[in-house]
Amino acid sequence: MGSGIAQVAAQAGYEVVLRDVTDGALARGTDGIRASYDRFVAKGRLEAADAEAALARISTTTDLEAVADADLVVEAVFEKIEVKQEIFRTLDRITGPGTVLASNTSAIPITKIAAATEHPERVVGTHFFSPVPMMQLCELVRGYKTSDDTLARAREFAESVGKTCIVVNRDVAGFVTTRLISALVVEAVKLYESGVASAEDIDVACKLGFGHAMGPLATTDLTGVDILLHATGNIYAESQDEKFAPPEIMRRMVDAGDLGRKSGQGFYPY
Ligand SMILES: NC(=O)c1ccc[n+]([C@@H]2O[C@H](COP(=O)([O-])OP(=O)(O)OC[C@H]3O[C@@H](n4cnc5c(N)ncnc54)[C@H](O)[C@@H]3O)[C@@H](O)[C@H]2O)c1
Repeated sequence: MGSGIAQVAAQAGYEVVLRDVTDGALARGTDGIRASYDRFVAKGRLEAADAEAALARISTTTDLEAVADADLVVEAVFEKIEVKQEIFRTLDRITGPGTVLASNTSAIPITKIAAATEHPERVVGTHFFSPVPMMQLCELVRGYKTSDDTLARAREFAESVGKTCIVVNRDVAGFVTTRLISALVVEAVKLYESGVASAEDIDVACKLGFGHAMGPLATTDLTGVDILLHATGNIYAESQDEKFAPPEIMRRMVDAGDLGRKSGQGFYPY
Protein backbone atom coordinates (compact mmCIF):
# COMPACT_ATOMS: atom_id res chain seq x y z
CA MET A 1 0.00 0.00 0.00
CA GLY A 2 2.84 2.36 0.84
CA SER A 3 4.46 1.98 -2.56
CA GLY A 4 1.08 2.38 -4.28
CA ILE A 5 0.46 5.65 -2.43
CA ALA A 6 4.01 6.81 -3.27
CA GLN A 7 3.36 5.92 -6.92
CA VAL A 8 0.19 7.99 -7.31
CA ALA A 9 1.67 10.91 -5.33
CA ALA A 10 4.81 11.03 -7.50
CA GLN A 11 2.69 10.81 -10.63
CA ALA A 12 0.66 13.79 -9.40
CA GLY A 13 3.87 15.82 -9.11
CA TYR A 14 4.75 15.50 -5.42
CA GLU A 15 8.30 14.95 -4.21
CA VAL A 16 7.98 11.65 -2.32
CA VAL A 17 10.15 10.06 0.35
CA LEU A 18 9.41 6.32 0.60
CA ARG A 19 10.53 4.89 3.91
CA ASP A 20 10.72 1.25 4.95
CA VAL A 21 12.75 -0.69 7.51
CA THR A 22 15.05 -2.57 5.11
CA ASP A 23 16.67 -1.91 1.73
CA GLY A 24 15.09 -5.14 0.48
CA ALA A 25 11.59 -3.88 1.28
CA LEU A 26 12.38 -0.55 -0.40
CA ALA A 27 13.63 -2.37 -3.51
CA ARG A 28 10.41 -4.42 -3.64
CA GLY A 29 8.44 -1.20 -3.37
CA THR A 30 10.28 0.66 -6.13
CA ASP A 31 10.34 -2.44 -8.38
CA GLY A 32 6.57 -2.63 -8.01
CA ILE A 33 6.19 1.07 -8.84
CA ARG A 34 8.41 0.77 -11.92
CA ALA A 35 6.52 -2.31 -13.16
CA SER A 36 3.19 -0.56 -12.65
CA TYR A 37 4.31 2.60 -14.51
CA ASP A 38 5.59 0.34 -17.33
CA ARG A 39 2.14 -1.26 -17.61
CA PHE A 40 0.47 2.17 -17.81
CA VAL A 41 2.98 3.23 -20.49
CA ALA A 42 2.39 0.01 -22.47
CA LYS A 43 -1.36 0.68 -22.38
CA GLY A 44 -0.82 4.24 -23.60
CA ARG A 45 -2.19 5.74 -20.38
CA LEU A 46 1.10 7.36 -19.33
CA GLU A 47 3.95 8.91 -21.33
CA ALA A 48 7.29 7.15 -20.82
CA ALA A 49 8.91 10.51 -20.04
CA ASP A 50 6.29 11.26 -17.38
CA ALA A 51 6.87 7.83 -15.80
CA GLU A 52 10.62 8.53 -15.67
CA ALA A 53 10.00 11.96 -14.17
CA ALA A 54 7.65 10.49 -11.55
CA LEU A 55 10.20 7.82 -10.61
CA ALA A 56 12.84 10.53 -10.24
CA ARG A 57 10.60 12.30 -7.73
CA ILE A 58 10.68 9.24 -5.39
CA SER A 59 13.60 8.93 -3.04
CA THR A 60 13.98 5.97 -0.66
CA THR A 61 15.34 5.71 2.84
CA THR A 62 15.33 3.54 5.94
CA ASP A 63 15.68 6.65 8.10
CA LEU A 64 12.37 8.02 9.39
CA GLU A 65 14.05 11.38 10.12
CA ALA A 66 14.13 11.90 6.33
CA VAL A 67 10.41 12.77 6.37
CA ALA A 68 10.88 15.58 8.90
CA ASP A 69 10.21 18.31 6.30
CA ALA A 70 7.18 16.68 4.69
CA ASP A 71 3.89 18.57 4.38
CA LEU A 72 2.01 15.30 4.76
CA VAL A 73 3.04 11.80 5.87
CA VAL A 74 1.00 8.69 5.08
CA GLU A 75 1.84 5.75 7.33
CA ALA A 76 1.16 2.31 5.81
CA VAL A 77 2.95 -0.21 8.03
CA PHE A 78 1.55 -3.50 9.38
CA GLU A 79 -1.90 -3.33 10.92
CA LYS A 80 -0.51 -3.43 14.49
CA ILE A 81 -1.47 -0.62 16.80
CA GLU A 82 1.78 -0.68 18.81
CA VAL A 83 3.86 -0.30 15.63
CA LYS A 84 1.67 2.53 14.36
CA GLN A 85 1.68 4.35 17.71
CA GLU A 86 5.46 4.16 17.90
CA ILE A 87 5.77 5.66 14.43
CA PHE A 88 3.29 8.45 15.17
CA ARG A 89 5.10 9.24 18.41
CA THR A 90 8.30 9.71 16.41
CA LEU A 91 6.57 11.59 13.56
CA ASP A 92 5.01 13.96 16.09
CA ARG A 93 8.46 14.72 17.48
CA ILE A 94 10.41 15.12 14.22
CA THR A 95 7.91 16.96 11.98
CA GLY A 96 6.81 20.57 12.22
CA PRO A 97 3.42 21.58 13.64
CA GLY A 98 2.02 22.10 10.12
CA THR A 99 2.61 18.52 8.94
CA VAL A 100 -0.50 16.38 8.45
CA LEU A 101 0.00 12.88 9.87
CA ALA A 102 -2.19 10.34 8.08
CA SER A 103 -2.65 6.62 8.62
CA ASN A 104 -3.72 4.13 5.97
CA THR A 105 -5.12 1.77 8.60
CA SER A 106 -8.14 -0.27 7.46
CA ALA A 107 -9.66 -0.66 10.91
CA ILE A 108 -7.65 0.70 13.85
CA PRO A 109 -9.39 3.72 15.42
CA ILE A 110 -7.57 6.90 14.36
CA THR A 111 -8.18 8.29 17.84
CA LYS A 112 -6.05 5.48 19.35
CA ILE A 113 -3.20 6.19 16.93
CA ALA A 114 -3.51 9.95 17.50
CA ALA A 115 -3.41 9.45 21.27
CA ALA A 116 0.29 8.55 20.94
CA THR A 117 0.99 12.14 19.80
CA GLU A 118 0.96 15.54 21.48
CA HIS A 119 -1.01 16.94 18.53
CA PRO A 120 -3.96 14.62 17.83
CA GLU A 121 -5.65 17.40 15.86
CA ARG A 122 -3.24 16.84 12.96
CA VAL A 123 -3.81 13.07 12.76
CA VAL A 124 -6.31 11.71 10.22
CA GLY A 125 -7.17 8.48 8.44
CA THR A 126 -6.54 8.25 4.69
CA HIS A 127 -7.70 4.75 3.85
CA PHE A 128 -6.69 4.02 0.26
CA PHE A 129 -7.71 0.82 -1.51
CA SER A 130 -5.67 -1.87 -3.20
CA PRO A 131 -4.29 -1.61 -5.83
CA VAL A 132 -3.90 2.11 -5.14
CA PRO A 133 -3.25 3.20 -8.75
CA MET A 134 -6.46 1.48 -9.89
CA MET A 135 -8.92 2.00 -7.05
CA GLN A 136 -10.62 5.36 -6.93
CA LEU A 137 -11.81 5.50 -3.34
CA CYS A 138 -10.13 7.13 -0.36
CA GLU A 139 -11.97 6.87 2.94
CA LEU A 140 -11.09 9.87 5.11
CA VAL A 141 -11.46 9.22 8.81
CA ARG A 142 -11.89 11.93 11.40
CA GLY A 143 -10.45 10.94 14.78
CA TYR A 144 -12.01 12.32 17.93
CA LYS A 145 -9.69 15.35 17.86
CA THR A 146 -8.91 15.70 14.13
CA SER A 147 -9.19 19.36 13.11
CA ASP A 148 -11.24 20.60 10.15
CA ASP A 149 -8.04 21.95 8.63
CA THR A 150 -6.34 18.53 8.83
CA LEU A 151 -9.32 16.82 7.24
CA ALA A 152 -9.45 19.45 4.48
CA ARG A 153 -5.73 19.06 3.74
CA ALA A 154 -6.00 15.27 3.65
CA ARG A 155 -8.90 15.59 1.23
CA GLU A 156 -6.93 18.03 -0.93
CA PHE A 157 -4.07 15.54 -1.10
CA ALA A 158 -6.25 12.52 -1.89
CA GLU A 159 -8.16 14.40 -4.58
CA SER A 160 -4.94 15.73 -6.09
CA VAL A 161 -3.78 12.12 -6.62
CA GLY A 162 -7.04 11.36 -8.41
CA LYS A 163 -9.15 9.83 -5.65
CA THR A 164 -12.75 10.39 -4.68
CA CYS A 165 -13.18 10.75 -0.93
CA ILE A 166 -15.85 9.73 1.51
CA VAL A 167 -15.72 11.13 5.04
CA VAL A 168 -16.18 9.01 8.15
CA ASN A 169 -17.34 11.56 10.71
CA ARG A 170 -17.17 9.30 13.75
CA ASP A 171 -14.19 7.09 14.33
CA VAL A 172 -16.14 3.82 14.63
CA ALA A 173 -14.28 0.49 14.43
CA GLY A 174 -13.96 -0.58 10.80
CA PHE A 175 -15.03 2.86 9.54
CA VAL A 176 -17.63 2.61 6.76
CA THR A 177 -16.02 0.30 4.21
CA THR A 178 -14.57 -2.41 6.48
CA ARG A 179 -17.86 -2.49 8.43
CA LEU A 180 -19.85 -2.98 5.25
CA ILE A 181 -17.62 -5.69 3.81
CA SER A 182 -17.35 -7.42 7.22
CA ALA A 183 -21.12 -7.54 7.67
CA LEU A 184 -21.53 -8.97 4.16
CA VAL A 185 -18.70 -11.50 4.57
CA VAL A 186 -19.96 -12.70 7.96
CA GLU A 187 -23.45 -13.27 6.58
CA ALA A 188 -22.11 -14.95 3.43
CA VAL A 189 -19.88 -17.28 5.49
CA LYS A 190 -22.82 -18.13 7.81
CA LEU A 191 -25.01 -19.01 4.82
CA TYR A 192 -22.20 -21.19 3.45
CA GLU A 193 -21.37 -22.75 6.84
CA SER A 194 -24.98 -23.72 7.50
CA GLY A 195 -25.41 -25.24 4.05
CA VAL A 196 -28.02 -22.76 2.86
CA ALA A 197 -26.15 -22.29 -0.42
CA SER A 198 -22.81 -23.17 -2.03
CA ALA A 199 -19.92 -20.71 -2.09
CA GLU A 200 -20.35 -20.34 -5.85
CA ASP A 201 -24.07 -19.58 -5.57
CA ILE A 202 -23.61 -17.02 -2.78
CA ASP A 203 -21.02 -15.21 -4.92
CA VAL A 204 -23.17 -15.42 -8.05
CA ALA A 205 -26.08 -13.94 -6.06
CA CYS A 206 -24.01 -10.88 -5.17
CA LYS A 207 -22.55 -10.51 -8.65
CA LEU A 208 -25.71 -10.91 -10.68
CA GLY A 209 -28.23 -9.77 -8.08
CA PHE A 210 -26.40 -6.69 -6.83
CA GLY A 211 -23.87 -5.98 -9.58
CA HIS A 212 -20.87 -6.58 -7.31
CA ALA A 213 -17.63 -7.09 -9.27
CA MET A 214 -16.74 -10.03 -7.04
CA GLY A 215 -18.72 -12.13 -4.54
CA PRO A 216 -17.96 -11.89 -0.78
CA LEU A 217 -16.38 -15.36 -0.51
CA ALA A 218 -14.10 -14.82 -3.51
CA THR A 219 -13.26 -11.41 -1.99
CA THR A 220 -12.38 -13.10 1.30
CA ASP A 221 -10.08 -15.53 -0.53
CA LEU A 222 -8.42 -12.64 -2.35
CA THR A 223 -7.97 -10.50 0.76
CA GLY A 224 -7.04 -13.44 3.01
CA VAL A 225 -9.35 -15.38 5.33
CA ASP A 226 -7.01 -14.46 8.22
CA ILE A 227 -7.16 -10.75 7.36
CA LEU A 228 -10.97 -10.70 7.31
CA LEU A 229 -11.19 -12.83 10.45
CA HIS A 230 -8.96 -10.27 12.17
CA ALA A 231 -10.98 -7.32 10.81
CA THR A 232 -14.39 -8.69 11.77
CA GLY A 233 -13.03 -9.86 15.14
CA ASN A 234 -11.77 -6.33 15.88
CA ILE A 235 -15.06 -4.71 14.93
CA TYR A 236 -16.94 -7.27 17.03
CA ALA A 237 -14.63 -6.66 20.01
CA GLU A 238 -15.16 -2.88 19.78
CA SER A 239 -18.86 -2.81 18.94
CA GLN A 240 -20.14 -5.95 20.72
CA ASP A 241 -22.53 -6.12 17.78
CA GLU A 242 -23.32 -9.80 17.10
CA LYS A 243 -23.58 -9.25 13.37
CA PHE A 244 -19.78 -8.91 13.26
CA ALA A 245 -19.06 -12.07 15.32
CA PRO A 246 -16.71 -14.13 13.12
CA PRO A 247 -18.24 -17.52 12.17
CA GLU A 248 -16.42 -20.54 13.61
CA ILE A 249 -15.50 -21.91 10.20
CA MET A 250 -13.33 -18.85 9.51
CA ARG A 251 -11.32 -19.60 12.65
CA ARG A 252 -10.92 -23.27 11.68
CA MET A 253 -9.88 -22.36 8.14
CA VAL A 254 -7.15 -20.10 9.55
CA ASP A 255 -6.08 -22.82 12.05
CA ALA A 256 -5.82 -25.26 9.14
CA GLY A 257 -3.86 -22.83 6.96
CA ASP A 258 -6.61 -22.33 4.37
CA LEU A 259 -6.07 -18.60 4.03
CA GLY A 260 -7.40 -18.10 0.50
CA ARG A 261 -5.46 -17.43 -2.68
CA LYS A 262 -2.13 -16.92 -0.94
CA SER A 263 -2.19 -20.47 0.51
CA GLY A 264 -3.80 -22.16 -2.50
CA GLN A 265 -7.06 -22.98 -0.71
CA GLY A 266 -9.82 -20.90 0.82
CA PHE A 267 -13.52 -21.09 0.04
CA TYR A 268 -12.24 -22.14 -3.40
CA PRO A 269 -9.16 -24.11 -4.50
CA TYR A 270 -6.43 -22.15 -6.40
N1 LIG B 1 -3.44 -4.65 1.54
C1 LIG B 1 -4.60 -4.03 1.43
O1 LIG B 1 -5.46 -4.41 0.61
C2 LIG B 1 -4.90 -2.82 2.26
C3 LIG B 1 -5.92 -1.98 1.86
C4 LIG B 1 -6.20 -0.83 2.60
C5 LIG B 1 -5.46 -0.56 3.75
N2 LIG B 1 -4.47 -1.42 4.14
C6 LIG B 1 -3.70 -1.05 5.33
O2 LIG B 1 -2.47 -0.51 4.90
C7 LIG B 1 -1.45 -0.86 5.85
C8 LIG B 1 -0.35 -1.61 5.15
O3 LIG B 1 -0.88 -2.77 4.57
P1 LIG B 1 -0.08 -3.61 3.46
O4 LIG B 1 -1.01 -4.62 2.97
O5 LIG B 1 0.61 -2.70 2.51
O6 LIG B 1 1.01 -4.29 4.41
P2 LIG B 1 2.38 -5.02 3.98
O7 LIG B 1 2.66 -5.99 5.07
O8 LIG B 1 2.33 -5.46 2.58
O9 LIG B 1 3.42 -3.83 4.03
C9 LIG B 1 3.80 -3.22 5.24
C10 LIG B 1 5.14 -2.58 5.01
O10 LIG B 1 5.47 -1.86 6.20
C11 LIG B 1 6.85 -2.05 6.42
N3 LIG B 1 7.13 -1.73 7.82
C12 LIG B 1 6.96 -2.50 8.90
N4 LIG B 1 7.34 -1.81 10.00
C13 LIG B 1 7.71 -0.59 9.58
C14 LIG B 1 8.19 0.55 10.23
N5 LIG B 1 8.36 0.58 11.55
N6 LIG B 1 8.47 1.64 9.47
C15 LIG B 1 8.31 1.60 8.14
N7 LIG B 1 7.88 0.54 7.47
C16 LIG B 1 7.60 -0.54 8.19
C17 LIG B 1 7.12 -3.47 6.03
O11 LIG B 1 8.49 -3.70 5.78
C18 LIG B 1 6.27 -3.58 4.75
O12 LIG B 1 6.99 -3.18 3.61
C19 LIG B 1 -2.14 -1.62 6.96
O13 LIG B 1 -2.53 -0.74 7.98
C20 LIG B 1 -3.37 -2.20 6.25
O14 LIG B 1 -4.43 -2.45 7.14
C21 LIG B 1 -4.17 -2.52 3.40
